[in-house]
Amino acid sequence: MSQSPVMERRSPDTGVGGRGPAEAAFIRIDGARKVFTQRSGGAVPVLDNVDLAIAENEFVSFIGRSGCGKTTLLNMIAGLEDVSAGRIAIAGKVVTGPGQGQGVVFQQHALFPWLTAVDNVAFGFRKSGLAKAERCRRALELLSLVGLDAAAGRYPREMSGGMQQRVSIARALALDPQILLMDEPFGALDELTRIELQQELLRIWEARRKTIVFVTHSISEALTLSDRIVLLASNPGRIKRIFPVDLPRPRLRTDPGFNALYQAIWNELST
Ligand SMILES: Nc1ncnc2c1ncn2[C@@H]1O[C@H](COP(=O)(O)OP(=O)(O)OP(=O)(O)O)[C@@H](O)[C@H]1O
Ligand SMILES: [Mg+2]
Repeated sequence: MSQSPVMERRSPDTGVGGRGPAEAAFIRIDGARKVFTQRSGGAVPVLDNVDLAIAENEFVSFIGRSGCGKTTLLNMIAGLEDVSAGRIAIAGKVVTGPGQGQGVVFQQHALFPWLTAVDNVAFGFRKSGLAKAERCRRALELLSLVGLDAAAGRYPREMSGGMQQRVSIARALALDPQILLMDEPFGALDELTRIELQQELLRIWEARRKTIVFVTHSISEALTLSDRIVLLASNPGRIKRIFPVDLPRPRLRTDPGFNALYQAIWNELST
C-alpha cells in the first residue's frame, strides 16, 4: 500500500513545553497567564505560566478535565481573550486580536439560525471585500470541500449536528486561515459521524496545509488526529505533560502503540 502524504508526516521536534528551537515555533506561548476578574471584584486565576511552541502545519490537541482552561487558552490564541501576563505570538507577531491568520470553530451554537448553510459560510467572507456573487461562489466551493454540496440552501434547524459542524468548519476556512482553532468541534456527534469528520479534517489539514489546535475530551480522538497531545491540569490550568504521537496515519485503535499511549494518557488524566 502506498503511503498517503498524511501518513508520511512526523511530529516536528519543537521540544516539550515550548523549549524547542525558536525557528520551529509558529505559534509561541510564553509564560501565558489568565486571571478573570469576577463581578464581586475577586480575581480567579485560570491559567498559570503556560509555555508552548507549535510548529507550522503541526496538529496539536489540548486535553484535560472540564474547567481546566482549554477554551480560555484557545481563545487567547484566537485573540478573543487577552493575556493577563506573558505573551502569545504567531509567526513572531504578538497576538493582539483576531485576524492574524486564525480561523475558529467554536464549542457550540456557532451558526446563525436565520442564515442558510451557504450564507453562514459566506459570512466568513464579510471582511474580504469580495462581491456578493463571488462570496457565494466561494462559499459553495467550501461546502463542497466538506461534503455538503446538496445542503447549501438548508437552515441550521434543517441539518443534523454533523452537518452543522461541517458548515462551521467551512466557514472557519473561508479566509483560508493558516491556523484552525477548534474547540471540541465533534463533541456532540455520534461515534460514526465523529470518525467520518475526523477523517475529513485530516484530509483538509493535509490538502490545505494548516496548523491546527484542537480541543477534545476524547483520548482516542486526540490520538487519531494529533502530532502532539498537550495535557492540561486544573486549578490553575497549566501544562502537565506533552505526549508526542509518533504513529503513522491513518491510525488504528488496534495498534499496540495506540493502546499504550491511550493508557499513558488515561493514567496521567486520572491522577
Ligand atoms: N469570563 C469568565 N469569567 C470568569 N471565569 C471564567 C470565564 N470564562 C471561563 N471562566 C472560568 O475559567 C475556567 C476555565 O474555563 P474554560 O471554559 O476555559 O474551561 P474548559 O477547559 O474549556 O472546560 P470545558 O471542558 O468544560 O469546556 C473555569 O473555571 C471557568 O469557570
Ligand atoms: Mg471548553
